[in-house]
Order: sequence, then structure tokens, then C-alpha cells
Amino acid sequence: MEQTVVRVICAIGQSGQLGHNGVLPWEGNPSPEYVADVARFFDITRGHVLLAGPKTIASVPKFAFADRTIEVLRSHMDPEQTLKHYAGRVVFIGGGPPVWDIYARYVSHWDVTRLPYDGPADRWFNPLWLTCGEHQQR
Ligand SMILES: NC(=O)c1ccc[n+]([C@@H]2O[C@H](COP(=O)([O-])OP(=O)(O)OC[C@H]3O[C@@H](n4cnc5c(N)ncnc54)[C@H](OP(=O)(O)O)[C@@H]3O)[C@@H](O)[C@H]2O)c1
Repeated sequence: MEQTVVRVICAIGQSGQLGHNGVLPWEGNPSPEYVADVARFFDITRGHVLLAGPKTIASVPKFAFADRTIEVLRSHMDPEQTLKHYAGRVVFIGGGPPVWDIYARYVSHWDVTRLPYDGPADRWFNPLWLTCGEHQQR
């Protein structure tokens, strides 16, 4: 049976900042590295599947729904059944942190960009996500 390839692309600040007040901590920063990072996310995920929690999906711009499959993940959904549904496809797990807590064990590739931002945040990257393969106790 075809496998689901599970990947993550995310961006963090210098100390692991992921989110602030429901958006990216550097939201609206017009500097080229921030603009390029968002553009890269949409380039790499084009044609694939993007699954994320309700707040993260709410911030996805309308244009992105046209050329990729997007589904909101809810906490009542069974991760294995959800991923099986996309057998043969590349699935990007888009966060936020409670989603990565559960789906990290299925991820074969983490693509983490470390941006120059070093301000406040209320959502943080957890380095344990990188090491919670199925053979490792958490
Ligand atoms: N820097 C980055 O790359 C990046 C990427 C993604 C998000 N973010 C930031 O993170 C923040 C949003 O993340 P968030 O965590 O606050 O909200 P979120 O995206 O809505 O994700 C969390 C929600 O996902 C749902 N969920 C789905 N499957 C789940 C599971 N198996 N276990 C637990 N919960 C599950 C839960 O909602 P229910 O219980 O209601 O179903 C949970 O409250 C924003 O600030 C956003 O900008 C940053």
C-alpha cells in the first residue's frame, strides 16, 4: 500500500518563536528574508496537502486553496486514519504546537528556517518534536 509522506516546513525566531497573538510574530515585516520565507512555504507546498489546526488554517490566504489540498485538523480526529486518507501524497503538517505534539512522530523531514526575529511570542518551537520517532520514548 502507498505510504503518506509526512513533512513539516516552519519558521522560527532566534529563540524558537513560532507565533504571537494568533499570527506569525514577524507578521507584516516587509524585510526580504520574511517575505521570501512565506513565498518559499507556498512554493514548496503547492500541489500537495496542507493539514493544520483551525487558527493556522484561518491565516492561510485564499489563493493557496486553489492549488493545494487543505484540511483543518481537529483534536477528535485520529492521526493515523487522517494520514491514511492521503496515501500516496505528500502531506505538510502546518502546526500549531498541539498538532505537532501529536503528528511529530510521523514526520520524515523537518524544514526549519531560523529567521532574524528575536521579539515576543506566545507559541514556541519544541526541539523534542525532532526526536520523537516511533522508536523513541518521550
Ligand atoms: N512559525 C510557523 O511556522 C508557524 C506555523 C504554524 C502556526 N504558527 C503560529 O501558531 C499559532 C497558531 O497555533 P495554535 O496552536 O494557537 O492554533 P491551531 O493552529 O488552531 O492549532 C491548535 C489546535 O489544533 C487542533 N488540533 C487538531 N488536531 C489535534 C490533536 N491531535 N491534538 C490536539 N489539538 C489538535 C486543536 O483544536 P480543537 O481542539 O478545537 O480541534 C488545537 O487547539 C499562530 O500564532 C500561528 O501564526 C506558526
